[in-house]
Amino acid sequence: LTSKRYNVQRGKFSAVSEHDLKFFQELLGSHRTVLGEEELEGHNTDWLGTVRGASSVLLKPKTTEEVSAILSYCDQHQLAVCPQGGNTGLVGGSVPVFDEVIVSTALMNQVESVDTWSGVVTCQAGCILEALDQHVAEYGLMIPLDLGAKGSCHIGGNVSTNAGGLRLLRYGSLHGSVLGVEAVLASGEVVNCLSAMKKDNTGYDLKHLFIGSEGTLGLVTKVAINCPPRPAAVSLAFLGLQSFDNVLKTFKAAKDQLGEILSSCEFIDQSSMECVEGNLKIKSPLDEYPYYMLLETSGSNGDHDEEKLNNFLESTLGSGLVSDGTVATEPSKMANIWALRERIAEALILDGYTYKYDISLPLPHFYKLVEDMREHLGSNVVRCCGYGHVGDGNLHLNFTSRQYEKEILERIEPAVYEWTSQVNGSISAEHGLGFKKRNYIHYSKSLGAINLMKQMKKLMDPNGILNPYKVLPD
Ligand code: FAD
Ligand code: MLT
Ligand code: ZN
Repeated sequence: LTSKRYNVQRGKFSAVSEHDLKFFQELLGSHRTVLGEEELEGHNTDWLGTVRGASSVLLKPKTTEEVSAILSYCDQHQLAVCPQGGNTGLVGGSVPVFDEVIVSTALMNQVESVDTWSGVVTCQAGCILEALDQHVAEYGLMIPLDLGAKGSCHIGGNVSTNAGGLRLLRYGSLHGSVLGVEAVLASGEVVNCLSAMKKDNTGYDLKHLFIGSEGTLGLVTKVAINCPPRPAAVSLAFLGLQSFDNVLKTFKAAKDQLGEILSSCEFIDQSSMECVEGNLKIKSPLDEYPYYMLLETSGSNGDHDEEKLNNFLESTLGSGLVSDGTVATEPSKMANIWALRERIAEALILDGYTYKYDISLPLPHFYKLVEDMREHLGSNVVRCCGYGHVGDGNLHLNFTSRQYEKEILERIEPAVYEWTSQVNGSISAEHGLGFKKRNYIHYSKSLGAINLMKQMKKLMDPNGILNPYKVLPD
């Protein structure tokens, strides 16, 4: 179990009793009070298969009032709670560490309204990202967030982790797109900040406390999101490049030449490509190159965008910045190319054990971290690879071995965090700190900031029942 590997002490919480189960069953009925080791296995284990808790009960509320009743009861009876959405989180935040009660948003999946004039959707936290995007598509809108886990992650989980994803470059972070949040505090009190207005400067903007706090300050029950118009035309260029310097120059050229239609700029190195091709048997349309880029454009006029993208490709191929490239506009061809990038995380798992790092870096240092760590780890690992959201300075640095090895972890950490801190990067760009990274927070945040975070936690969750052992350091 996780607690043994990571040497954590269980907090002074109560264990779930028959009396507690009776309360939950009376509130939700027995089919929404899930019991049993087998039934809970998937909810106790994270997506990566690297951390595992031992909860004995999972609750499936449908309404804010039910969430409020659950948290109020848990707070009064000193029961720790782990909020869970789609359980696709990558830092061990979404699964219990010990026997925390899991509160799942799986049945909170109602869309409340779509304001087609302003383009705002208001919905419950358990809507699956892809389903929500399909829903707003009927109104010519899109959710300004897209990521590989879209088929299973919940919008509440996205908001709680402040997920970044593939189009942050174009649409910005959820701190900008989320207009309103309704959340339930540990005490059961409902905090309604569910404004759907684009502008609202009435007092402190409390919704931001719930965006990215990974279920430690409140359980998000509803969100209002600003949705841009769904683009009429999308094109995707897939490029092969010989040097990382050329990757940076190509990104700069793309901003200059495609600025207003550029919607994504992603990066894959050769080692990541070998992994996705080898482990998942997906075929790249290009020959082998040390580096690859995906450049997506989205706009209202397909001919115009395609012409721009073709001109861009012609000029970057002509100048030698790009060694080879192809442009796709057909949905199935684009999906094949996107799979090469979006499915790397899944491919890496098939090597055995994944040591996953999600780093923000100034662009001139972006790939040097991969090279230095590759040298540092040598043949101890099966793979050391880099991919990610290069347009946002976000590197996904991953190592794999056949199985978990403590010695490998100790060689990677804290070396990778020290390297990052020296260039003023962030040790978690988009995945959060969760359980695995919380004790490294000081590499990216000052003591003063950490102390204020602890005070906020104390104020909003005085008994510390909400996602204990997560985000804040020991
Ligand atoms: P969970 O994993 O269930 O939970 C994540 C955290 O939020 C936990 O701490 C949990 O306690 C808390 N939480 C969940 N729901 C609530 C709620 N309603 N209220 C309060 N707290 C809550 N992340 C990115 O940023 N960008 C990416 O590109 C990206 N790609 C991914 C690709 C894959 C294949 C996978 C597996 C993951 C990826 N992720 C990415 C990780 C990412 O954090 C999530 O996919 C997503 O945002 C989590 O949503 P979820 O519903 O699965 O939340
Ligand atoms: C991605 O961008 O693919 C995700 O953040 C998952 C990962 O880091 O592997
Ligand atoms: Zn990512």
